[in-house]
This record gives sequence, C-alpha cells and structure tokens, in this order.
Amino acid sequence: MTEKCPFQFDLMNPMTHSKSLPFESFATLREQCPVSYQSGAAEFGGDFWAITKREDLDFISKNPDKFSSSVNLAHPQPGGSDPESMEIMRQLIINMDPPRHIKYRRVVRNAFTGKAVDALEPLMREFARDIIDKVAARGECEFVSEVSAEMPLFVICALMEMPAEKRQTFASLVDTMIGMDDPELDVSAEDGQLAAAQIFEIAMELAVSHKADPKGGTVIDTLLNGVVEGESLDEFEFCTFFLILIAGAVETTRTATSQGMRLLIEHPEQHQILIDKPALIPDAVEEMLRFYPSFIHMQRTATGDVTVGGMEIKKGDLVKLFYPAVNHDPELFGDDAEAFDVTRSQRMADLKNQHRTFGVGQHFCIGSHLARKELCVMFEEIVPRLRNPRLVGSTHNLVSNFIPGIKKMNIVFDAGK
Ligand code: HEM
Repeated sequence: MTEKCPFQFDLMNPMTHSKSLPFESFATLREQCPVSYQSGAAEFGGDFWAITKREDLDFISKNPDKFSSSVNLAHPQPGGSDPESMEIMRQLIINMDPPRHIKYRRVVRNAFTGKAVDALEPLMREFARDIIDKVAARGECEFVSEVSAEMPLFVICALMEMPAEKRQTFASLVDTMIGMDDPELDVSAEDGQLAAAQIFEIAMELAVSHKADPKGGTVIDTLLNGVVEGESLDEFEFCTFFLILIAGAVETTRTATSQGMRLLIEHPEQHQILIDKPALIPDAVEEMLRFYPSFIHMQRTATGDVTVGGMEIKKGDLVKLFYPAVNHDPELFGDDAEAFDVTRSQRMADLKNQHRTFGVGQHFCIGSHLARKELCVMFEEIVPRLRNPRLVGSTHNLVSNFIPGIKKMNIVFDAGK
C-alpha cells in the first residue's frame, strides 16, 4: 500500500475551496512533497496523488499514454459515476485518449483559432457595451448574473446560432450541470443528468435548423461538417461536442470575470493602474488568469506503474493536477508569486506561457483565445465605467472542488454613463 503524505489537506472536500482557494496548503505541498499521496472520500474517487509543481504537471499532461483522461475521466463527472454515465462522459473530447482524441481535436481546432476569434471582436464589443449600459447608471448590480454571466453566454449562443429566447433556459441548465457539489443549489445527480439530456435536446434542435438553413464558416458548421475517421460526426457525437463546448465556455469565463472583478475590488491600487493606463488591461487579464484559475484541478489515471518526482505511482492510481498550486510557485513567478500584480507581464513577457490555467499538452484548452478575448473586451468596458467598485457583503461562492465559481457578488460603484 502506498504511504500517505504527512501533510493532508482534504483537497477533494468541496468545502476546502468554498471561502478561498487553499494557497497555503498548496505552498506546503509544493515545498514539502510536490507529488503527494492524499486521502480522498470515496464519492470523489478515493485516495489520489496531488501534483503541485509545474514540471510534474507538464510531464503527466504530455504523456496521455501513461496518464489516461478516459479511464476515470478528466474531471469530476456530472450525473454520477455509474458505468452508463461514465461511458457517456467518455464521448466528450476532454475525456478521450489518443488516437481517438487526436482525430476529434482536428474537427474543432479550426473553429476557435486566433483568427476566427478576432473576427468576433466587433460583436463582442457591442455585447460588452450593452451589458455595461444596463447597469452603469444604477451604481449597483449583482455582478455575476448581470455582468459576468452575460458575455460567455452571448458569445457561445452567437457561435452556435442559438435563438435568443433559449438563452436563459440554457444558462440555468449549465448551472445545474456544474452545481452538484454545492448543498445550497440542492442539485442531485439525477438533476445533473437531466440537465445534460436537455442540453443534448437543444443541440439536436440546433443541428436540425442548421441543416435546414446552413451558414458556412460558423462553429456549428465546422462541427457538423467535421470529419472523424473519414466520417462526419453523427448526431450523438455532435451533441457531446456541443455539451463540452458549452460547459467549457460558459462557466469558466464567467468565473474568470467574477474572480477578476473581485481581485480589482480588493486591490484598488491595481484597479487605478488600469484606469490610468487602459492599454495594460490585456496584461491584467493574464494576471487574473494566473492568480485565480477557473479550474482547481483536472485528473488523470495511471495506465501502468510509473515514477514521477521520485514517487512510485501505481497502475490505476488517480492523479490530480492542481493548476492554482503551479500558478503561485515562487520558483516560477518570483518572491511575489502570491501577490496580484497587473503589471507582472511587463517584467515577465511570456507570462501567458508560464502559467497553466489553460492546461498544457494534448488537451490544452481549445477556447483559450476566445476566453482571453472575451475577458479583455469585458474589462476594457468595465474598468473605465464601473468606477470605485466596492463589495456589498461578501461573495457567495460555489461549493466545488473543481471550479472556484462565484454565485452572487453584489457591488456598488459610482453611477455614470
Ligand atoms: C477562463 C476560461 C477557461 C479556462 C480556465 C479553461 C481551462 C481549460 C483547461 C485547464 C483545459 C485542459 C483540460 C485537461 O488537460 O484535462 C481545457 C480544455 C478544454 N477547453 Fe477550456 N478553459 C476556458 C475556456 C474555454 C472556452 C471559452 C472554451 C470553448 C470554446 C473551452 C473549451 C475547451 C475544450 C473543448 C477543452 C478540451 C480540449 C481537449 O480535450 O482536447 N474552454 N480548458
């Protein structure tokens, strides 16, 4: 039996992350035992290896033959862990291993290139202006539902040719799918499965209407005309693609916007730097992404016995990649790694390649350009218009060991145009 690490932090308990990410625990693990065997409750897959240094995280992420995303999936699965649900979840690209993964990835990668995303920028600016127009004069808002949630939803709905009247239903289905660990949301595994099934249904409707009136060059067109192993995606494959794109695109970017705003509110001197020099907003977005990543972890399963960081990982062991731990490593980001500094990119030109918020290796995030662009456009609108923002009470956080989401964040600011 593998010996447990003397430092145990209950990292799979969703409550551990509910107030704030446990950066002190991550620092202890990184310094004392970067590849450490941790206790985990059975409902979260049991004991696991916690990975907190970048070189180990990179090695694991870049060797899918040794570390499978498919066996126990790459992420805690909505809808329970019965064999049938697991098999459905294995159809999502994020839970595939090569060679199948490589073929599927070819289908979608063209949809989200830098060029494709740049083409969306004018539309995004219009959305961002509308979103802020709705709240600016009031001097107060519930930031998550009125601001953060809007842009990713708008963008993905536009990309997917989703009718406006479906957007709200769609948003709450996504919430249900990811909210199962949170007792306040009272979402059961069945609710999660049902939400996924309803998203499938919406995808089917979109496919049918696209086929009736096809528009070239759209994401939905890329997916429906994508070819895997000489055949185009069938309806089920299309729907699973759709599911992961939606879940990936909506909740992550919303979380990054909310956490980014919270960071600016808690660091008014950093906010002021951006008011004085808006050209630094893309740098600030990169620092937000580094400082508070939208995923706490992804997981892999060892396909054979393997040594990582001097530790012997056994076939079948669960390995968890803790992105926030890597992103706060002083060996990579300097002695002020634990500080939020919107000018960090000025000192560290390749910051975007140093942090691991979008993962690394074969499963590197397909939506990184899209997410960065959405965040830049949003903060370019937020920073000059929502002046002197303050929290009203505390944030209402999602209880999850996977996404450090914010459910509610009431703020006030100087009312303006
Ligand atoms: C701040 C926002 C985002 C963050 C932090 C993020 C993070 C990540 C991470 C860490 C992975 C790697 C998973 C692994 O290695 O197991 C990933 C994969 C993925 N992301 Fe994102 N993501 C974001 C936004 C998006 C958006 C907007 C989209 C949609 C266009 C998207 C679609 C995907 C897909 C499809 C994968 C799976 C890729 C594969 O398996 O080959 N993500 N993301």
